[in-house]
Amino acid sequence: MNFFAKLKEKLAERYTNFKASMQERADRKLARKSNAEAKEPGRFKKWLLRVGAFAKRRPSAFAAIIVAIIVVFLFGTYEALHLTSTPQFCGQCHVETQTGPGAEFHTWQKNVHSFAEVGCIDCHGRPGFFGYMRAKIGGMYDLYGEIFHSKEHKMEILTKGATDLEYAKKLVPNDYCVICHSDSENQRIRGETMMSFFGVEMRKVDGVKNPEFRQANGLLDIYNDEMPNISFSHDMHVNSVGLSCLDCHSGVAHGGEFKNKPKMETCFACHDERRKENADIIAPANEECASCHKSVVALHDGTLLLEEGEEPTPPSMMVDMGVYGAENCSSCHADAFDKPTAATCGTNCHGEMDYSFMFDEIRANFDAVKKPLDILNTELYKASNKMTAEQKAKFNEFKKYYDVLVNDNSKGIHNDIIYTKAGEKAMAVGSELANSLGIPVPAGE
Ligand code: HEC
Ligand code: HEC
Ligand code: HEC
Ligand code: HEC
Ligand code: HEC
Ligand code: HEC
Ligand code: HEC
Repeated sequence: MNFFAKLKEKLAERYTNFKASMQERADRKLARKSNAEAKEPGRFKKWLLRVGAFAKRRPSAFAAIIVAIIVVFLFGTYEALHLTSTPQFCGQCHVETQTGPGAEFHTWQKNVHSFAEVGCIDCHGRPGFFGYMRAKIGGMYDLYGEIFHSKEHKMEILTKGATDLEYAKKLVPNDYCVICHSDSENQRIRGETMMSFFGVEMRKVDGVKNPEFRQANGLLDIYNDEMPNISFSHDMHVNSVGLSCLDCHSGVAHGGEFKNKPKMETCFACHDERRKENADIIAPANEECASCHKSVVALHDGTLLLEEGEEPTPPSMMVDMGVYGAENCSSCHADAFDKPTAATCGTNCHGEMDYSFMFDEIRANFDAVKKPLDILNTELYKASNKMTAEQKAKFNEFKKYYDVLVNDNSKGIHNDIIYTKAGEKAMAVGSELANSLGIPVPAGE
């Protein structure tokens, strides 16, 4: 039987016992009333008198016992608060193992936030001490719901959170995210909020100070830094256009992916709409691929990961055929949603001769380079909580190179030289770090 079904049964039993004992108490009260004339002190009074006598006889022992009781009580609640805040505890009820409602623990476990040890209540509760306590009270309601509401009701609520964007935005408003992902907002929220109680921090988010936290985790400041892959201003879209994080990052923890990418449809839907109202907005037109896809352009130009004094390294083949370059996306992509394959590249680009084997070769080679790095990435994340500051910096360097492969969903077609270089650098930095941590380095092909 599941833990909470048992709990439900126990509670019912308790309630019956409780009713019986109330009756007993009422009976005793009646009996005491009739005894009152006898002036015999009651049982509690007798106990109090005895405690009083002890306190007089051994005052220091008495004080010590009182202090011990207080400590046990405080520590007990503190521990109970801690224990009921772990993701594992939440997972007792949020138990499904497919992506979707009820599977929040399962999906969280697959997500970069869990690898970075950001727990459930870091995102499900206003930052600060009172936010934490409020989240705990919300947790009591969860318990109530588990016991007294039907399974259908539970699934209905959980489905709403996962599918109704407006509802989700209220459940997890922007402030819950920007405290970790921006410096200025971190300082604002910390300034307005009581972050801890007597210096005791109950969860990760309440200890987050930026820029330190952000830098230690290799994160960008979303309002000040350029994004790595897409030309995009968070400041304009959130603070002027008025968007919520979840407008583009819904499913950020529960989408079932390690990292959750925004969808191009979201950008197009709004830009198209706004252009109808005002043709002069500066939002790029859908065909202007290069205005948004800056890392793909840098791959084409051979400038991605370029260090001081190095020459650009454009893709080794077909460059002189005019296929590549910021303006030439359409030589392979029929439109924004088209994904070229060996078959379409073969016929579109290569005329009579079938070069699709080259396409397959590049992609197979890419997979071979990336595979051991995937394993290394996971192992390093698992060890990241015991890394020194210096090791963490190495880890962030590893991630920078590894992310080039993760972000290049053409699997090397956009530039076979750069992905090879990124893979080699990631492996060099990653294995040095792995060695220093005693983690075995996965072998390449
Ligand atoms: C005792 C079982 C139980 C535990 C433990 C539990 N939950 Fe829940 N949770 C539920 C139920 C049941 C609901 C649906 C609420 C209802 O029935 O009204 C729910 C709903 C939620 C919701 C959606 C609330 C809404 O208003 O849409 C969130 C978010 C949530 N839980 C997070 C958590 C987190 C975080 C933890 C761990 C700290 C946790 N839960 C632990 C049973 C539980
Ligand atoms: C990085 C922040 C983040 C973390 C960490 C996180 N959540 Fe969520 N959670 C969200 C967001 C955002 C939503 C809103 C719906 C969506 O976008 O998926 C949400 C929605 C939910 C819901 C509502 C129903 C649903 O499926 O959408 C529940 C329940 C929930 N989370 C529970 C949990 C539990 C349990 C954990 C820990 C095991 C957890 N969350 C960890 C951000 C987070
Ligand atoms: C307690 C701090 C914290 C909170 C709260 C938090 N995050 Fe994160 N977030 C992180 C960390 C740490 C990482 C992982 C960095 C890494 O190791 O790659 C991360 C990663 C991400 C990434 C992926 C970044 C990448 O490199 O691709 C996105 C997107 C993101 N968070 C969005 C959100 C959103 C949206 C919310 C609010 C629902 C949120 N985060 C809440 C700390 C936090
Ligand atoms: C209009 C869509 C949109 C909105 C709204 C939005 N983002 Fe983003 N976000 C993006 C895009 C696009 C990227 C860049 C992806 C890339 O370059 O790989 C991104 C990247 C990120 C990253 C990754 C940064 C890194 O370190 O690599 C984080 C974290 C993030 N967003 C958090 C947030 C938070 C928090 C909010 C709410 C305040 C938010 N975003 C609102 C579209 C959006
Ligand atoms: C809800 C509406 C909305 C969504 C969603 C949206 N945008 Fe925009 N975006 C705008 C508006 C409005 C402007 C033009 C503002 C102006 O002209 O002052 C704009 C302008 C831009 C610009 C040009 C601004 C500059 O700084 O050069 C870029 C690039 C851009 N958006 C990228 C994106 C990307 C990428 C996404 C999807 C991840 C996205 N936008 C999603 C409303 C939106
Ligand atoms: C307004 C900005 C914008 C423009 C213009 C744009 N894209 Fe995108 N595109 C994005 C974003 C944001 C994503 C999703 C994030 C990512 O893949 O890094 C994306 C994703 C994609 C994907 C993957 C889609 C998928 O379903 O997985 C392809 C392919 C793509 N773009 C090609 C193009 C091509 C080709 C063009 C020009 C015809 C183009 N894009 C124009 C912003 C844009
Ligand atoms: C030589 C042919 C070629 C050219 C030129 C080209 N691409 Fe691609 N691109 C591909 C292939 C092949 C894929 C992989 C499609 C797949 O299997 O998903 C791809 C994938 C992508 C993706 C990622 C799709 C995803 O699944 O996330 C984006 C984004 C993209 N291309 C953007 C561009 C942009 C922007 C340009 C112009 C600057 C461009 N491409 C030029 C061949 C090309």
